[in-house]
Amino acid sequence: MGILLLKVTGLSKEFDGLRALDQVSFAAEEGEILGIIGPNGAGKTTLFNLVSGIYPASGGEVAFQGKSILGMKPHQISRLGIGRTFQIVRPFQNLDVETNVLVAYGHRFYPGLWNSIGPFQRPDILREVGMLIEGTGLEPYRKQLAKNLPLGIKKRIEIARALALKPSLLLLDEPSGGLRFEESAQLMDLIRKVSDQGISVLLIEHNMQVVMDLCKRIVVLDHGSKIAEGSPEEIRSNPQVIEAYLGKED
Ligand SMILES: Nc1ncnc2c1ncn2[C@@H]1O[C@H](COP(=O)(O)OP(=O)(O)OP(=O)(O)O)[C@@H](O)[C@H]1O
Ligand SMILES: [Mg+2]
Repeated sequence: MGILLLKVTGLSKEFDGLRALDQVSFAAEEGEILGIIGPNGAGKTTLFNLVSGIYPASGGEVAFQGKSILGMKPHQISRLGIGRTFQIVRPFQNLDVETNVLVAYGHRFYPGLWNSIGPFQRPDILREVGMLIEGTGLEPYRKQLAKNLPLGIKKRIEIARALALKPSLLLLDEPSGGLRFEESAQLMDLIRKVSDQGISVLLIEHNMQVVMDLCKRIVVLDHGSKIAEGSPEEIRSNPQVIEAYLGKED
């Protein structure tokens, strides 16, 4: 066991009587890519929404670097070092790639959009933005409006925006969802690169091959509960996991 980064204990969420998440516990270590899988509606995105402070939990505990973060606001949690992307991409469609990333820098300090652009057009920050844009493979699109770019590139923008906040933990909600094989493979290379830089990753992913390739450890959710945790080999041969997936296929 490496250094503990995130500890989720008995985490639950109810929406109008529906248990979207039911007593889920797991831990993530520094430097790992932990896979989170499960059929549609299993509670994966809800888990991210609780950890990133978008929704209040109905019960349980979330500790990041040994400190409880439950009840904190999303911007407080992101300042502590937890970044995230969303299942449905949402860059600023009418801004170019560079400005999208620049705004993310400003967001650490200013909530308003325009507030966060002006003060941050400093040479040092522009240089950092440039490095991020290169590092995430966005250089060719730098001056293009987000709305004119394909989904695979928009997903890169989202990752660049999350990285601008200098996270130590990145929550990625189905980064390869909706992408063609080629785009998806390129995005996985980017995730591996991010991980190599020492950033820990929680990866929600539908594509089994992708999860099995990237993750040494996987947590499986079904109907809000954790039904399994282990190595790709263990998960692949776990009867409960097979049942959960087969049961959904009809
Ligand atoms: N804001 C909400 N209000 C009411 N119900 C919600 C809300 N968010 C999620 N749910 C419900 O909670 C359950 C879990 O949803 P969630 O989005 O976490 O699943 P998921 O594992 O991310 O699924 P998918 O693979 O389809 O993205 C579902 O039944 C969903 O309808
Ligand atoms: Mg989801």
